[in-house]
Amino acid sequence: MCGITGYIGNRDAYPIVVNGLKRLEYRGYDSAGIMIYDGKNIQLTKTKGKVSDLEVITNKEEERKKGNIGIGHTRWATHGVPNDVNSHPHLSKSSDLVIVHNGIIENYDSLKKELITRGYTFKSDTDTEVLINLIEEVKKEENCKLGKAVQLALNNVIGAYAIAVFDKTKPDEIVVARLGSPIAIGVGEGNSEFFIASDASPFIEYTKNAIYLEDEELAIIKLNKGIKVRKIKDDSLVDANIQKLKLSLEQIEKGGYDHFMLKEIYEQPKAITDTFRGRMLPDEGLIKMSGIDDHLQKFLNANRIIIVACGTSWHAGLVGEYLLEDMARIPVEVEYASEFRYRNPIVTANDVVIAISQSGETADTLAAIKLAKSKGAFVFGICNVVGSSIARETHAGAYTHAGPEIGVASTKAFTTQITLLTLISLKLAKSKGTLSNSAFRMYLQNMQLIPNKVADLLKIDDKVKEIAAVYKDAPNCLYLGRGFNFPVALEGALKLKEISYIHAEGYPAAEMKHGPIALIDENMPIFVIATNKGHYEKVVSNIQEIKSRSGKIIAIVTQGDTQVRKIADHVIEIPETEEALTPLLTTIPLQLLSYHIAVMLGKNVDQPRNLAKSVTVE
Ligand code: F6R
Repeated sequence: MCGITGYIGNRDAYPIVVNGLKRLEYRGYDSAGIMIYDGKNIQLTKTKGKVSDLEVITNKEEERKKGNIGIGHTRWATHGVPNDVNSHPHLSKSSDLVIVHNGIIENYDSLKKELITRGYTFKSDTDTEVLINLIEEVKKEENCKLGKAVQLALNNVIGAYAIAVFDKTKPDEIVVARLGSPIAIGVGEGNSEFFIASDASPFIEYTKNAIYLEDEELAIIKLNKGIKVRKIKDDSLVDANIQKLKLSLEQIEKGGYDHFMLKEIYEQPKAITDTFRGRMLPDEGLIKMSGIDDHLQKFLNANRIIIVACGTSWHAGLVGEYLLEDMARIPVEVEYASEFRYRNPIVTANDVVIAISQSGETADTLAAIKLAKSKGAFVFGICNVVGSSIARETHAGAYTHAGPEIGVASTKAFTTQITLLTLISLKLAKSKGTLSNSAFRMYLQNMQLIPNKVADLLKIDDKVKEIAAVYKDAPNCLYLGRGFNFPVALEGALKLKEISYIHAEGYPAAEMKHGPIALIDENMPIFVIATNKGHYEKVVSNIQEIKSRSGKIIAIVTQGDTQVRKIADHVIEIPETEEALTPLLTTIPLQLLSYHIAVMLGKNVDQPRNLAKSVTVE
């Protein structure tokens, strides 16, 4: 959580840092701040609220914007409530040093007490103010330069961080470091300018050259001289690897849509195609995935597959369980990464772990991966963000290639994760012989039709909007599904909760009678996924049970369905496909529904309260 940006070069730093913060606002948006160095003085502006609130202040005082060096921060509060004082950047006692920080310093309390005995006082409740004063104290004690002081201080820190530090007394450099939180450095022509950010989106229009710091690395960025990267622990020099970015500006803008979430929902036909492009070859009857091909025996000989993930990615993992067990007949367990990492799980070298994460930065998932690796398991990653921490930490993996997902509520990440899990399941099923050749080919042909079917489904947006208008004021909603569509019910409920703040529960349809049925009355909307294969008749019975208790039914059915239409209050039709592939379709109207309800309720769809896109704290 939290986004950090920085600039050092010959241009005005302010627009670069502020626009960078706007692109990083998905990471946290309860306060924002900026430091601009004008050649003599540090100009510090920070406020509770969004980057737009920060701009209201800076627009009134133009001198706050003048200077070629700057750092900025957009916050998701951990230590201390969101207010002006707790906002970053933070100054050291002498006001010479300035810091922005993403992460948590776990031992900040003991460090703070020690610093207080040495005469330091603190204005904020943050761990970050402790860190900048620790750096100042070390710098004074050791009589060393900023880079060394940061390194020595970090060796006394327990926790996670991505930091950028500036020292007024040495104003030609910025020091950055990371442990557990990401940091990218954009490198301008001839070392004439450098950009710092939590991801590359803030500097994509300025340079395509980027260095991604690894954990426990520190970089001293010196104007016109270049970058020196060192290991924080032992001071050894590291070869900084400059990568060419493939990201484009167009990909990270709204492109005419009102919200990123809507854009991302509409991008799904393309995103799903991009996920299987070059991997799924229906004409040849083949699925090629180097991450699996290179380690096929590990998968085929695995005792079981353990899927670890959080939130929406966990829901995709649950679909993966149904797919892998049904097609490839491999036992699968799906674990919340946050539980798995702390519950002393039994993991052996014969297990394969699949970690799923859109951002590739989720702290709990990362920790679960490290734990599984320490127990000898082979770990395969499914990530969207290329070069992310999880992508690097896993033994092998596959990218979803969904393109940047900026809306905080995950949409295209979910369907592309399911697409990949379907490919993996089919591939393993074919290798194991648990699926016949003809069934395998049939699935590939059906998969190939999915993007067009998603595109067709998006055309019923107006109808979904009408249904949204009817139920937007409901205080509670139930989502029911069975089999492959049980996880979709969970995901539908999560989407509604996240962006409209309406309480919603997802349940396996048959479980309803074991408790939730008590909630049903004429005010309760129930979204039921009732596609025509799988457990159709059973779900129809569940719908009857709801109707007998006056619940309102909004059913997602297969085109041409007549039975459910007779009972339901509303029906939304999806195109016909194989049951195992229906989650890729049934999800779409539920995403649209949540979106429209949230818009009608006037909620901030792309930045829902209390959430952040990238959860880099545990
Ligand atoms: C829901 C959502 C979150 C994430 C979860 C995991 O819309 O976005 O529940 O799915 O925080 O994030 P990743 O996939 O980045 O590990």
